[in-house]
Amino acid sequence: MVGSVLMQRMLDEGDFAQIDPVFFSTSNAGGQAPAFAEGAAPLQDAYDIQTLAKLPIIVTAQGGDYTTKVHAQLRNSGWDGLWIDAASTLRMNDDSVIVLDPINRNVIDQSLASGTKDFIGGNCTVSCMLMGLGGLFKNGLVEWSTAMTYQAASGGGARHMRELLTQFGDINSHVASELDDPASAILEIDRKVLAAQRGGLDATQFGVPLAGSLIPWIDADLGNGQSKEEWKAGVETNKILGNSAENKVVVDGLCVRIGAMRSHSQALTLKLTEDLPVSEIESLLAADNEWAKVVPNTKEATVDALTPVAASGTLDIPVGRIRKLEMGPEYISAFTVGDQLLWGAAEPLRRMLAIAQG
Ligand code: HSE
Repeated sequence: MVGSVLMQRMLDEGDFAQIDPVFFSTSNAGGQAPAFAEGAAPLQDAYDIQTLAKLPIIVTAQGGDYTTKVHAQLRNSGWDGLWIDAASTLRMNDDSVIVLDPINRNVIDQSLASGTKDFIGGNCTVSCMLMGLGGLFKNGLVEWSTAMTYQAASGGGARHMRELLTQFGDINSHVASELDDPASAILEIDRKVLAAQRGGLDATQFGVPLAGSLIPWIDADLGNGQSKEEWKAGVETNKILGNSAENKVVVDGLCVRIGAMRSHSQALTLKLTEDLPVSEIESLLAADNEWAKVVPNTKEATVDALTPVAASGTLDIPVGRIRKLEMGPEYISAFTVGDQLLWGAAEPLRRMLAIAQG
């Protein structure tokens, strides 16, 4: 799915005109290259190390298993091209950089100059958060932050999105006749919905029902009470910002799956290093990059612009609900939303490819 979104973004932006692409497949070697790539050779075998090694740059969104299998073989064969990857496998390696150029173009440029070869897209939640709050993090204004996330089904993959929609449909079909009857009792409808959720829904992908519920755990259990998704928030944020162990910002929270389709949201509490007026905070956020869109902290603007429905399919990262909290003048709340397939996955890769080509 990330690969499809990536190719579409590259098409939309005319990226293919700037490169001489060779397309690879893990399952359909010999098949036709994408229709838009007129004159391109047939699909190559994505496990053919010799053919891969002829290329100066490889861009992959195939997933962690592919990266694990192919990257080491390629490097061991002596290939010293640039590897641009969406999978998390290589992200925290000392010799890789996490790419999110509106936030860390300086880190990317320094790494390219010093010979770094592996450029990896960040965790979607982290990338979307930093795109929204870059104006605070980049200016060293965050002492610590904690995020409670509301992550969409797409983070699990295409089959997870389908499962969510199937669950919604199945729930509806269990109570369709009662819903058609305005006189039916809502508690009876609720009882039937719960019975369906507890017994009748296909939850093969998520393991438990998501429609009409939520799942307060994402990714592996690290055994210390933290999920892997929660661990990534801290380590990846600091790596993207190029922070050393001495000046690292503490970032931690709880990651929760909800029944949204493709945009991740998060409610943050931040402790700032100084007492800044809200208007100044908003100005910093809006000025940081062209995609961060400050949403005024009013009910009308919030419900209109600060939702997955508003953000999905766009590169905008709305950021709102910014206000001082009762805890003290340095404590603020914020809420951001971002399409996890765009800034969360595909966009940093296509931009890194453009940077690599100079
Ligand atoms: N781990 C993320 C999620 C997706 O499950 O939502 C990719 O970063």
